[in-house]
Amino acid sequence: MNNNSTPNVAIGYVDRCDVSQAKKIAHKWQLEYIGDVKSVSKHPDLQFLLQVNHQYLELCKLDEPKLGAIKVDFVEGAIAHRRKFGGGRGQDIAKAIGLKHSFKPHVLDATAGLGRDAFLLAGLGCQVTLMERMPIVAALLEDGIERARLNSAISDLATHQMKLIHASSIQSMTIAEQPDVIYLDPMYPHREKSALVKKEMRVFQALVGEDLDADSLLAPALALAKYRVVVKRPSYAPPLANKKPSTIIKMKKNRFDVYVNQAIPKPEKE
Ligand SMILES: C[S@@+](CC[C@H](N)C(=O)[O-])C[C@H]1O[C@@H](n2cnc3c(N)ncnc32)[C@H](O)[C@@H]1O
Repeated sequence: MNNNSTPNVAIGYVDRCDVSQAKKIAHKWQLEYIGDVKSVSKHPDLQFLLQVNHQYLELCKLDEPKLGAIKVDFVEGAIAHRRKFGGGRGQDIAKAIGLKHSFKPHVLDATAGLGRDAFLLAGLGCQVTLMERMPIVAALLEDGIERARLNSAISDLATHQMKLIHASSIQSMTIAEQPDVIYLDPMYPHREKSALVKKEMRVFQALVGEDLDADSLLAPALALAKYRVVVKRPSYAPPLANKKPSTIIKMKKNRFDVYVNQAIPKPEKE
């Protein structure tokens, strides 16, 4: 699947307590509403199912039910753990965006996906605008952000530091107020055998496919970012649009290509 083909997705509820939430999401994202998810067998053409399961919006791949359902959960699980114990400003992503005690940039995450990097950056003090073009992914993200806003520990962060925009950043990047840093992490063809890819990522990859137009993100990003553009790439991938970065930060399987527009200001001495 690539971004020119829309996957066949509908939405339903697992328990009757989620009927109104499921209908609300169906209306907002213009999705077919099937009612109780048990009726899914009456819809053989569906590839994916969004289900509201006790207030959580989840996505299932119908022909591979063993992969389980994916959701965006900033409150518990791996993303929450990474924010609490991930290593703060010492992390490679923090170095790549140029985070300093005195510099907490406004970051436009122009390929937001499931919001893991965005949430991490918000947790490090950045103001983050998340842009995502796929309605299903944007719906999952919105659900995760809304639930985070109800949790006392991260409510402020989710309310004041994370703003979601459903749009394609190739066309609409400038909707975001001028960002200090633009972060890009487009999908790249995966080399790993699918058995090695985590189950949740297999569902996500099947939904999103490859971002075949990713090269077109770089020029508008470089034109808009005040200080820098950071691109996350698998270590074996060529740079985006084959443009040589100013600096590279290498990690085990990935790297950050950093394109510097201008130096980040040094803190004023008192
Ligand atoms: C690899 S995922 C990003 C993962 C994300 N960094 C995270 O931490 O969860 C790439 C995402 O970018 C989105 N995307 C790709 N091109 C885009 C564009 N031009 N505008 C907005 N979103 C885009 C895809 O739909 C996909 O959800």
